[in-house]
Amino acid sequence: MAAHTIRLVGDPVLRQRAADVTDIDGKLARLADEMLTTMYEAPGLGLAAPQIGVRKRLFVYDIGEGGQVVVNPTIAESDGEWAYDEGCLSVPGLSWEIVRPKQVHLTGYDLEGNEVSVEADEVLARCFQHEMDHLDGVLLLERLDADTRKLAMKTIRELGIGMPPDLGGAVPQPAKPAGGGLSLR
Ligand code: NI
Repeated sequence: MAAHTIRLVGDPVLRQRAADVTDIDGKLARLADEMLTTMYEAPGLGLAAPQIGVRKRLFVYDIGEGGQVVVNPTIAESDGEWAYDEGCLSVPGLSWEIVRPKQVHLTGYDLEGNEVSVEADEVLARCFQHEMDHLDGVLLLERLDADTRKLAMKTIRELGIGMPPDLGGAVPQPAKPAGGGLSLR
């Protein structure tokens, strides 16, 4: 399965809400396989379809217990607070401490169309919330306070990552680094 190029910050597809999956079929299974390949190659803990330019509500993840796919996910409940140094494959090499709920209850469907229900804590819960944000067109930068976000955008601009929106997308997307980025997701 071929790996895809991961879309970087400034790419409009990362700001759009993805559409519900209507057909769980062989085509979707192939897409999920390609997403897993792309995630492992990066490497990262999770990858949402919009990150490879596909506006569909599914993501893949693996926090060390094998690759999983969730289709049309929903976070039913969340609880607690947890600070975690969070990164994103679409903003490679950078991370910021972000506080989010510590536990979430995720529901959705697997590739056979069966309902899945996962009680997640800490890293897995963080991964789910981060990937859900991608499906809603939200990047982790939007979870930073205004001052930190301003500083983050400056760093992103200086490093020439992706196409910062304040440059009107004028900066060409750099080639995918051979060894992958340092970020987690
Ligand atoms: Ni991400």
